[in-house]
This record gives sequence, C-alpha cells and structure tokens, in this order.
Amino acid sequence: MAQLKILVLVGSLRKDSFNRQLANAIVKLAPAGVEFQHARIDDLPLYNQDDDANPAAAVKRLKAEITAAQGVLFVTPEYNRSVPGVLKNAIDHASRPYGQSAFAGKPGGVIGVSVGAAGTAMAQQHLRNVLAYLDMPTLGQPEAFIHNKDGLFDADGGIGEASKAFLQGWMDRYVAWVKQHAG
Ligand SMILES: Cc1cc2nc3c(=O)[nH]c(=O)nc-3n(C[C@H](O)[C@H](O)[C@H](O)COP(=O)(O)O)c2cc1C
Repeated sequence: MAQLKILVLVGSLRKDSFNRQLANAIVKLAPAGVEFQHARIDDLPLYNQDDDANPAAAVKRLKAEITAAQGVLFVTPEYNRSVPGVLKNAIDHASRPYGQSAFAGKPGGVIGVSVGAAGTAMAQQHLRNVLAYLDMPTLGQPEAFIHNKDGLFDADGGIGEASKAFLQGWMDRYVAWVKQHAG
C-alpha cells in the first residue's frame, strides 16, 4: 500500500505533450510506497470568481484530489516565458475561495521540458512565485530544466540513459522533500 500520494499537474493539454511524457517517465523512477496520481485539468471551466460559492464538479474534484495528496508535482511547459494558461487556471481554481486554498502547506515540486534550450526555466521561476504565495514549501534544488533532445525518452516511455541518473537524483530528493514536509 502507498504511504505517500503525490498529485501530478501537467500544464499541457496536447495529445503528444512532451511534458506529459516526462511526467509519465519520471514517476517510473519513484521509490516503492509512493503513488503518483495524474490530475485532470482539461474539463475545468475558466475561473470566474462569481462561481466561488458554487464551484463546478470538476473544481471540487481537483480540490479533493489535492487535499488527499501529501504533495503536488507540477510538470509544465513554458508558454511565452511563463506557465500555460490552463495550468494557471487550475491553480487559481484550487486556491479559492480566499482562505480555502487546497494548496496551503503541500510540498511542491517543479519540473518541465521544452524544445527551447532554456528548458522552461522562466516558466518554472514564475510558477515558484505563485507557489510561494500559496504557502507551498517547494523543492529548491536540484532544479530540473529539461531540453527535449533525441534520447530523452527510451523506447518504453522511460527516461533515456543520458538523463536517467540526473532525474533519478531529482526524484529521490523530491520524495524526501515530500516526506519531510508532509506532516
Ligand atoms: C503558445 C506557445 C508559447 C511557447 N513559448 C515558449 C517559450 O516561451 N519558451 C520555450 O522554451 N518554448 C516555448 N514554446 C514551445 C514549447 O516548448 C513546445 O511547444 C513544447 O512542446 C510544449 O510542451 P508540450 O510538448 O508538453 O505541449 C511555446 C509553445 C507555444 C504553443
């Protein structure tokens, strides 16, 4: 039985998303006893504060999933040097109504892959700003700015040899971080 549950939010809705592939590949590096659950964000309405008193079923589901998890892992592309709107929309939903954020105190992890050489660095930095406001203790090091190159993924959808040691180290540190902060 899993001792730790970590919710994964991927900031791309694209069918062949590299970030979804990365999310699927890194969870294979998780130690025993850790369960990763992928959150759905494509059916969330656009956030409208008028709806705070009557949130959509998809919003209630997302907040319940975050509440039930011991940590939240964000796997995000970079759109125009920031996070995609779909991810920000999900974050805004789960952070509201004021004082009822599902994120407070949940240990966060941030990682992302881009076709650009900077590997989502700017998007991750923007996201860290948001997570700080949401009172999420977020793993600072190692940073993981992944540049999508041939061989990043192996034929089975795992992490390829060239990046495996680095990403295994990242996963080990993140799981330890969640354990430390999970309460
Ligand atoms: C609207 C848009 C903006 C983008 N802006 C950036 C950017 O600022 N930096 C970057 O490295 N890549 C940028 N890209 C390229 C993405 O890195 C690339 O499309 C990537 O595959 C998206 O992630 P995904 O494969 O998980 O969907 C942008 C792509 C789109 C569609």
